[in-house]
Amino acid sequence: MTWVERLRAHEAVCRRAPSAHNTQPWRPGYEADQIVIDVDPARSLPDSDPTGRDLGLGIGAFVETCLVVAADLGLDVTAVPGPRLVAATHRYPTPFTIADIEARRVARGPYAAGPLDAAALADLESGFVHLPARELARDLAVADRWQFDTPAVAVELRDWLRLDPRHPRYHLDGLTDRALVLSRFEARFLAAALRAYPVTRRLGLAALLAASGRNLLRYDGSVLVMRAEGEDHVTAGRRLLRAWLTLARHGLAVHPLSQLIDCPVTAARLAGRVGGQPLAVFRVGRPRTEPPRSARLPARGRAA
Ligand SMILES: Cc1cc2nc3c(=O)[nH]c(=O)nc-3n(C[C@H](O)[C@H](O)[C@H](O)COP(=O)(O)O)c2cc1C
Repeated sequence: MTWVERLRAHEAVCRRAPSAHNTQPWRPGYEADQIVIDVDPARSLPDSDPTGRDLGLGIGAFVETCLVVAADLGLDVTAVPGPRLVAATHRYPTPFTIADIEARRVARGPYAAGPLDAAALADLESGFVHLPARELARDLAVADRWQFDTPAVAVELRDWLRLDPRHPRYHLDGLTDRALVLSRFEARFLAAALRAYPVTRRLGLAALLAASGRNLLRYDGSVLVMRAEGEDHVTAGRRLLRAWLTLARHGLAVHPLSQLIDCPVTAARLAGRVGGQPLAVFRVGRPRTEPPRSARLPARGRAA
């Protein structure tokens, strides 16, 4: 078996990479001596992610995940712009393994109170700024309200929600009621409100839809902001995945809150707070309950 064939046989593990709304926008194309990672345009979020920031971050997270898997399999592989995976003369240097990739998951439920351990923060690469959760609580309310009050963004979110286990794509992609930690009642309410969205909005119910996140940051916890460091989004996505895996090694989970960067008003305030352009923002802590394992599409890479 060539290295391409061996990595292809592990595509399902590579697909554990995180992506906004769990869109899984990557499309690996397997060739004789390289793997070309294309974007699936049907899996982008043109309305909520018009600059392609989250798309690039997700592709980067996938690239880094593939490199960790390759290294754990003993394959000498590296990433080059494209992005493409090509043969290398050395093993990709990473402390992470397939077990770390399989164990990683976003956790959206409550976290134990207390600030982030200094040791975990010290283990991160440069470009991560720590903020007390409470400092962003008001801005999160503004951003949530903006998300549900902006028709194209709300409708795009609706298209990726799987709020009922009978949804035909429940086990494939998108965000489930379980992943969002919604009770049956909350899931039904959200589904009904979004189904009738134009009316819901006209009735001024955006505030009600946004209410579920009201107390998310009103506790003694931590938020991390990843600042742009002059790299492209794919390279930044690789840095983001390494940070999430590093935090997971410390027993810490993350909960991204990208609406804080998507909403122009809160994005500008966040940039001021961290002294640079924020690319990702997430709550970090020790989850009080075990987060569910998210859905993935089956492996189905394209052969050249
Ligand atoms: C760039 C990026 C942005 C994300 N933004 C959000 C977000 O705003 N809110 C959220 O709850 N999850 C967000 N996520 C997490 C994804 O929804 C999550 O990775 C996906 O549902 C798969 O779940 P898993 O990471 O637990 O495997 C984001 C992930 C990435 C990579």
